[in-house]
Amino acid sequence: MDMGLGNKKIIVTGSSSGIGYSVFKELLSQGAFVTLMGRNRSKLDDIYKNHPSNEKERILIFDGDLTSKNEVERLSTTISNEWGAIDGLFANAGGGIPNTRGLTIGEDAWREVFRKNFFSTVLTVEALIDKFNHGSSILMTASIAGKERTNLSLAYGSAKAAVISYAKNLSQHLIKKGLRVNSISPGAVDIRSENPSYEQNLMKRAARPDELGKFICFLFSENCSFMTGTNIVVDGGETKSF
Ligand SMILES: NC(=O)c1ccc[n+]([C@@H]2O[C@H](COP(=O)([O-])OP(=O)(O)OC[C@H]3O[C@@H](n4cnc5c(N)ncnc54)[C@H](OP(=O)(O)O)[C@@H]3O)[C@@H](O)[C@H]2O)c1
Repeated sequence: MDMGLGNKKIIVTGSSSGIGYSVFKELLSQGAFVTLMGRNRSKLDDIYKNHPSNEKERILIFDGDLTSKNEVERLSTTISNEWGAIDGLFANAGGGIPNTRGLTIGEDAWREVFRKNFFSTVLTVEALIDKFNHGSSILMTASIAGKERTNLSLAYGSAKAAVISYAKNLSQHLIKKGLRVNSISPGAVDIRSENPSYEQNLMKRAARPDELGKFICFLFSENCSFMTGTNIVVDGGETKSF
Protein backbone atom coordinates (compact mmCIF):
# COMPACT_ATOMS: atom_id res chain seq x y z
CA MET A 1 0.00 0.00 0.00
CA ASP A 2 1.46 3.35 -1.06
CA MET A 3 1.17 5.69 1.92
CA GLY A 4 2.35 8.77 0.04
CA LEU A 5 5.60 8.98 2.01
CA GLY A 6 7.95 8.90 -0.99
CA ASN A 7 10.82 11.41 -0.62
CA LYS A 8 9.59 12.50 2.82
CA LYS A 9 12.41 13.03 5.30
CA ILE A 10 11.67 11.32 8.57
CA ILE A 11 13.85 11.03 11.67
CA VAL A 12 13.46 7.74 13.50
CA THR A 13 15.37 7.59 16.78
CA GLY A 14 16.30 4.20 18.20
CA SER A 15 16.08 2.64 14.73
CA SER A 16 18.87 0.10 15.13
CA SER A 17 16.58 -2.55 16.60
CA GLY A 18 13.06 -3.50 17.67
CA ILE A 19 10.14 -1.22 16.93
CA GLY A 20 12.33 1.57 15.53
CA TYR A 21 14.05 -0.76 13.08
CA SER A 22 10.75 -2.06 11.77
CA VAL A 23 9.55 1.53 11.22
CA PHE A 24 12.88 2.37 9.55
CA LYS A 25 12.49 -0.57 7.13
CA GLU A 26 8.87 0.21 6.35
CA LEU A 27 9.56 3.90 5.70
CA LEU A 28 12.42 2.97 3.38
CA SER A 29 10.16 0.60 1.49
CA GLN A 30 7.73 3.52 1.10
CA GLY A 31 10.46 5.59 -0.56
CA ALA A 32 11.16 7.92 2.38
CA PHE A 33 14.53 9.24 3.51
CA VAL A 34 15.11 7.84 7.00
CA THR A 35 17.66 8.12 9.80
CA LEU A 36 19.37 5.04 11.16
CA MET A 37 20.12 5.85 14.79
CA GLY A 38 21.43 4.41 18.03
CA ARG A 39 24.50 4.68 20.23
CA ASN A 40 26.32 1.65 18.83
CA ARG A 41 28.09 2.74 15.61
CA SER A 42 29.23 -0.71 14.51
CA LYS A 43 25.66 -2.01 14.75
CA LEU A 44 24.48 0.88 12.56
CA ASP A 45 27.23 0.20 10.02
CA ASP A 46 26.30 -3.50 9.89
CA ILE A 47 22.65 -2.69 9.25
CA TYR A 48 23.58 -0.15 6.57
CA LYS A 49 25.88 -2.64 4.83
CA ASN A 50 23.04 -5.11 4.44
CA HIS A 51 20.57 -2.76 2.80
CA PRO A 52 20.26 -2.65 -0.99
CA SER A 53 22.05 0.24 -2.73
CA ASN A 54 18.82 1.86 -3.93
CA GLU A 55 17.88 2.26 -0.25
CA LYS A 56 21.34 3.23 0.99
CA GLU A 57 21.14 6.64 -0.67
CA ARG A 58 18.08 7.44 1.46
CA ILE A 59 19.62 6.38 4.79
CA LEU A 60 21.26 8.92 7.09
CA ILE A 61 23.31 7.31 9.87
CA PHE A 62 23.66 9.10 13.18
CA ASP A 63 25.27 7.56 16.25
CA GLY A 64 24.79 9.43 19.50
CA ASP A 65 23.34 9.29 22.98
CA LEU A 66 20.12 11.29 22.91
CA THR A 67 20.21 11.87 26.65
CA SER A 68 23.09 14.28 25.97
CA LYS A 69 22.23 17.84 24.97
CA ASN A 70 25.48 18.13 23.00
CA GLU A 71 24.72 15.00 21.01
CA VAL A 72 21.20 16.14 20.26
CA GLU A 73 22.54 19.49 19.08
CA ARG A 74 24.98 17.62 16.84
CA LEU A 75 21.98 15.73 15.44
CA SER A 76 20.25 19.01 14.71
CA THR A 77 23.32 20.36 12.88
CA THR A 78 23.69 17.11 10.92
CA ILE A 79 20.07 17.26 9.82
CA SER A 80 20.43 20.90 8.73
CA ASN A 81 23.53 20.08 6.71
CA GLU A 82 22.27 16.86 5.14
CA TRP A 83 18.55 17.31 4.71
CA GLY A 84 17.56 20.88 5.58
CA ALA A 85 13.88 20.60 6.53
CA ILE A 86 12.16 17.44 7.76
CA ASP A 87 8.67 15.97 7.46
CA GLY A 88 8.45 13.79 10.55
CA LEU A 89 10.00 12.62 13.79
CA PHE A 90 9.45 9.26 15.43
CA ALA A 91 10.94 9.87 18.90
CA ASN A 92 11.25 6.25 19.86
CA ALA A 93 14.61 5.75 21.63
CA GLY A 94 14.15 4.46 25.14
CA GLY A 95 13.38 1.30 27.02
CA GLY A 96 13.57 -0.33 30.39
CA ILE A 97 16.67 -0.29 32.58
CA PRO A 98 17.73 -3.42 34.50
CA ASN A 99 17.27 -3.46 38.27
CA THR A 100 14.83 -0.58 38.41
CA ARG A 101 11.73 -2.51 39.46
CA GLY A 102 12.19 -2.20 43.21
CA LEU A 103 9.90 -0.19 45.44
CA THR A 104 12.63 2.30 46.39
CA ILE A 105 15.25 2.41 43.66
CA GLY A 106 16.67 5.79 44.63
CA GLU A 107 17.06 9.14 42.92
CA ASP A 108 19.89 8.16 40.53
CA ALA A 109 17.91 5.25 39.09
CA TRP A 110 14.77 7.39 38.74
CA ARG A 111 16.77 10.05 36.91
CA GLU A 112 18.37 7.46 34.62
CA VAL A 113 15.00 6.02 33.60
CA PHE A 114 13.61 9.51 32.99
CA ARG A 115 16.71 10.54 31.01
CA LYS A 116 16.42 7.51 28.75
CA ASN A 117 12.67 7.67 28.17
CA PHE A 118 11.51 11.24 28.75
CA PHE A 119 14.37 13.73 28.52
CA SER A 120 15.79 12.10 25.39
CA THR A 121 12.40 12.76 23.77
CA VAL A 122 12.14 16.34 24.99
CA LEU A 123 15.74 17.18 24.00
CA THR A 124 15.20 15.72 20.52
CA VAL A 125 11.98 17.63 19.94
CA GLU A 126 13.47 20.91 21.21
CA ALA A 127 16.56 20.56 19.03
CA LEU A 128 14.53 19.90 15.88
CA ILE A 129 11.52 22.08 16.47
CA ASP A 130 12.42 24.71 13.85
CA LYS A 131 13.18 22.18 11.14
CA PHE A 132 9.72 20.78 10.39
CA ASN A 133 7.87 21.46 7.17
CA HIS A 134 4.23 22.53 7.47
CA GLY A 135 2.06 19.40 7.69
CA SER A 136 4.74 17.34 9.48
CA SER A 137 4.04 14.84 12.19
CA ILE A 138 5.75 14.03 15.49
CA LEU A 139 5.08 10.69 17.12
CA MET A 140 6.58 9.66 20.47
CA THR A 141 6.84 6.11 21.78
CA ALA A 142 5.20 5.77 25.17
CA SER A 143 3.87 2.47 26.53
CA ILE A 144 0.75 1.05 28.11
CA ALA A 145 2.87 1.23 31.29
CA GLY A 146 2.34 5.00 31.09
CA LYS A 147 -1.38 4.59 31.11
CA GLU A 148 -2.25 1.65 33.32
CA ARG A 149 -1.00 -0.16 36.38
CA THR A 150 1.55 -2.78 35.26
CA ASN A 151 4.17 -4.93 36.91
CA LEU A 152 6.95 -2.95 35.21
CA SER A 153 9.15 -0.40 36.97
CA LEU A 154 7.42 2.49 38.75
CA ALA A 155 9.94 4.85 37.16
CA TYR A 156 9.40 3.45 33.64
CA GLY A 157 5.60 3.82 33.91
CA SER A 158 5.97 7.34 35.26
CA ALA A 159 8.41 8.36 32.51
CA LYS A 160 6.10 7.00 29.81
CA ALA A 161 3.11 8.80 31.40
CA ALA A 162 5.20 11.97 31.13
CA VAL A 163 5.77 11.26 27.42
CA ILE A 164 2.00 10.90 26.85
CA SER A 165 1.34 14.17 28.68
CA TYR A 166 4.15 15.97 26.83
CA ALA A 167 2.78 14.90 23.44
CA LYS A 168 -0.76 15.90 24.39
CA ASN A 169 0.26 19.35 25.63
CA LEU A 170 2.77 20.00 22.87
CA SER A 171 0.10 19.34 20.24
CA GLN A 172 -1.76 22.54 21.11
CA HIS A 173 1.39 24.63 20.63
CA LEU A 174 2.57 23.03 17.41
CA ILE A 175 -0.73 22.98 15.58
CA LYS A 176 -0.05 26.69 14.98
CA LYS A 177 2.94 25.60 12.90
CA GLY A 178 0.83 22.98 11.12
CA LEU A 179 2.37 20.06 13.02
CA ARG A 180 0.51 17.07 14.41
CA VAL A 181 1.78 15.53 17.66
CA ASN A 182 0.73 12.16 19.03
CA SER A 183 2.08 9.34 21.16
CA ILE A 184 1.81 5.61 20.68
CA SER A 185 1.51 3.14 23.53
CA PRO A 186 2.46 -0.38 22.54
CA GLY A 187 1.81 -3.34 24.78
CA ALA A 188 4.30 -6.20 24.77
CA VAL A 189 6.41 -6.35 21.61
CA ASP A 190 8.55 -9.40 20.99
CA ILE A 191 11.75 -7.66 19.91
CA ARG A 192 14.22 -10.47 20.47
CA SER A 193 12.06 -13.57 20.01
CA GLU A 194 13.09 -14.64 23.47
CA ASN A 195 9.62 -14.88 24.90
CA PRO A 196 7.07 -15.33 22.14
CA SER A 197 4.33 -16.59 24.43
CA TYR A 198 2.61 -13.85 26.36
CA GLU A 199 -0.55 -14.47 28.32
CA GLN A 200 -1.54 -11.01 29.51
CA ASN A 201 -3.47 -9.75 26.49
CA LEU A 202 -6.46 -11.02 24.53
CA MET A 203 -4.26 -12.25 21.68
CA LYS A 204 -2.14 -14.40 24.01
CA ARG A 205 1.01 -13.31 22.24
CA ALA A 206 3.33 -10.34 22.01
CA ALA A 207 3.26 -8.15 18.88
CA ARG A 208 5.79 -8.71 16.13
CA PRO A 209 7.76 -5.50 15.50
CA ASP A 210 6.49 -5.44 11.88
CA GLU A 211 2.92 -5.21 13.18
CA LEU A 212 3.93 -1.90 14.75
CA GLY A 213 6.10 -0.77 11.84
CA LYS A 214 3.38 -0.73 9.20
CA PHE A 215 0.88 0.91 11.49
CA ILE A 216 3.32 3.63 12.60
CA CYS A 217 4.11 4.49 8.97
CA PHE A 218 0.40 4.88 8.39
CA LEU A 219 0.29 7.37 11.28
CA PHE A 220 2.86 9.51 9.42
CA SER A 221 0.77 9.54 6.27
CA GLU A 222 -1.84 12.01 5.06
CA ASN A 223 -4.44 9.35 5.90
CA CYS A 224 -4.10 10.56 9.49
CA SER A 225 -4.22 14.29 8.75
CA PHE A 226 -6.94 14.99 11.36
CA MET A 227 -5.28 13.12 14.22
CA THR A 228 -3.38 15.15 16.80
CA GLY A 229 -3.05 15.34 20.58
CA THR A 230 -3.90 11.72 21.15
CA ASN A 231 -2.32 8.57 22.49
CA ILE A 232 -2.80 5.47 20.38
CA VAL A 233 -2.85 2.14 22.18
CA VAL A 234 -1.72 -0.94 20.25
CA ASP A 235 -1.65 -3.73 22.80
CA GLY A 236 -3.53 -6.82 21.59
CA GLY A 237 -6.30 -5.97 24.06
CA GLU A 238 -4.11 -5.86 27.17
CA THR A 239 -5.35 -2.65 28.78
CA LYS A 240 -8.65 -2.81 30.62
CA SER A 241 -9.47 0.89 30.72
CA PHE A 242 -11.46 2.69 28.01
N1 LIG B 1 9.36 -3.92 23.42
C1 LIG B 1 8.27 -3.63 24.09
O1 LIG B 1 7.56 -4.54 24.57
C2 LIG B 1 7.84 -2.18 24.27
C3 LIG B 1 6.54 -1.93 24.73
C4 LIG B 1 6.13 -0.61 24.89
C5 LIG B 1 6.99 0.43 24.60
N2 LIG B 1 8.26 0.17 24.18
C6 LIG B 1 9.11 1.33 23.88
O2 LIG B 1 9.47 1.23 22.51
C7 LIG B 1 10.68 1.95 22.29
C8 LIG B 1 11.63 1.09 21.48
O3 LIG B 1 12.01 -0.01 22.25
P1 LIG B 1 12.22 -1.49 21.68
O4 LIG B 1 11.37 -2.37 22.49
O5 LIG B 1 12.11 -1.50 20.21
O6 LIG B 1 13.71 -1.74 22.21
P2 LIG B 1 15.13 -1.91 21.54
O7 LIG B 1 15.10 -2.97 20.50
O8 LIG B 1 16.06 -2.05 22.70
O9 LIG B 1 15.40 -0.51 20.81
C9 LIG B 1 15.82 0.64 21.47
C10 LIG B 1 16.49 1.54 20.47
O10 LIG B 1 16.79 2.80 21.09
C11 LIG B 1 18.21 3.04 21.01
N3 LIG B 1 18.57 3.77 22.22
C12 LIG B 1 18.37 3.38 23.51
N4 LIG B 1 18.80 4.32 24.36
C13 LIG B 1 19.29 5.34 23.59
C14 LIG B 1 19.90 6.58 23.87
N5 LIG B 1 20.10 6.99 25.12
N6 LIG B 1 20.29 7.37 22.85
C15 LIG B 1 20.10 6.97 21.57
N7 LIG B 1 19.54 5.80 21.23
C16 LIG B 1 19.14 4.98 22.24
C17 LIG B 1 18.83 1.64 20.87
O11 LIG B 1 20.11 1.63 20.27
P3 LIG B 1 21.48 1.60 21.16
O12 LIG B 1 21.26 0.65 22.28
O13 LIG B 1 22.58 1.22 20.20
O14 LIG B 1 21.64 3.01 21.64
C18 LIG B 1 17.80 0.99 19.96
O15 LIG B 1 18.01 1.41 18.62
C19 LIG B 1 11.20 2.34 23.66
O16 LIG B 1 10.87 3.69 23.91
C20 LIG B 1 10.44 1.41 24.60
O17 LIG B 1 10.31 1.95 25.89
C21 LIG B 1 8.70 -1.11 24.00
